[in-house]
Amino acid sequence: MSPRREVLSRGPGPEEPPLTPLGPEETADDTGLDLDRGFDLDTGRALDPGPGPAEVAEEARLRPRRLSEFIGQAQLIEHLEILLEAARRRGKPVDHVLFAGPPGLGKTSLAGVVAAEMGVGMRITSGPALLRSGDLAAILTDLHAGDVLFIDEIHRLPRPVEEVLYPAMEDFQFDILIGKGPTARSIRLDLPRFTLVGATTRTGLLTGPLRDRFGFVGRLDLYGAAELEEVVVRSAGILGVDITPGGARLIAERSRGTPRIANRLLRRVRDFVEVRAEGRITDELAAAGLAVFGVDDLGLDKVDRAILDVLCTRFGGRPVGLGTLAHCVGEEPGTVEDAYEPYLLHRGLVQRTARGRVATPRAFEHLGLAPGGGHGLTLALG
Ligand SMILES: Nc1ncnc2c1ncn2[C@@H]1O[C@H](COP(=O)(O)OP(=O)(O)OP(=O)(O)O)[C@@H](O)[C@H]1O
Ligand SMILES: [Mg+2]
Repeated sequence: MSPRREVLSRGPGPEEPPLTPLGPEETADDTGLDLDRGFDLDTGRALDPGPGPAEVAEEARLRPRRLSEFIGQAQLIEHLEILLEAARRRGKPVDHVLFAGPPGLGKTSLAGVVAAEMGVGMRITSGPALLRSGDLAAILTDLHAGDVLFIDEIHRLPRPVEEVLYPAMEDFQFDILIGKGPTARSIRLDLPRFTLVGATTRTGLLTGPLRDRFGFVGRLDLYGAAELEEVVVRSAGILGVDITPGGARLIAERSRGTPRIANRLLRRVRDFVEVRAEGRITDELAAAGLAVFGVDDLGLDKVDRAILDVLCTRFGGRPVGLGTLAHCVGEEPGTVEDAYEPYLLHRGLVQRTARGRVATPRAFEHLGLAPGGGHGLTLALG
């Protein structure tokens, strides 16, 4: 989600443990108490699927580095394994790959996995960071054969940059304009064969010509509770946190299908038990810790509940347009669509209709309201 500085990390050999693809130094002292990090008590955003600024370094530590470490998304991983193995056998770089899916599901992690599995370097940049075609030229001409170029938020590439990317992706050539006016001339640079890995929160945001130039499009779906439980157990191992299976399950169930949130809730609950108890996350302490952070039993936070409240009470179950809905809860339409709605749809709390978003009977039930009858009436909100 966040625009990242580009970072170059030379790839390790296949045998060595791969370097972190994201690059930021791991400065976070993970034994410290950090109740305020990645969680805003005022707004209750423990469940924001985007990474907090201080969270980026911690995430690098918890990131899966190899295919075998990547939990869930079984079908996508299987296809990716075939793609990588075929490229290895041919001794060629992997086809350009696009990963699409809501924030925090592992798109950046997978880009690093592709580079690590191929034993190549990875260069990281993002759509909004590439302002001019010259920015892209500087990166492309610096790549080594086989390298992965990861462009996060690729749907936000400025159009002129996107247009010079096409020949680079297709023919590994880059046309650069030198000089101005009548003396200007164009020279064609040959680029090393590289693999472009793009990430986007929605494929619908990409232009057709760009989408068509990817040889493989991998869609990431929200994770199931069992997979998230595995994520929690794995991360607890890395962080050296003692947790019961029941505690891991509880955190998993409230993580709205998102590994980033599972990791964040794990860290918050760990902080809670360090302050309030012996340091071991038991079933009871996990429940108590999650309650402190305002996460309800479906994993909904304040913004989710505000969305449901608008749909159920303010509009009494009638369809509401995205812009109106976003305005009512004080968020950007894009944020509601990318970050909140996928989980609400996934849990069957909200439906999208041609006329707008509608709350389902389950949403009324979750808010403790009579289905469809809550016009302007706000009852106890769980
Ligand atoms: N399959 C997985 N197994 C274990 N951990 C995972 C998995 N997927 C994601 N994570 C964890 O979730 C965090 C967020 O993942 P990542 O940054 O790759 O998501 P993203 O899809 O790139 O998000 P964004 O859209 O915000 O850029 C990572 O730090 C990693 O620890
Ligand atoms: Mg990412």
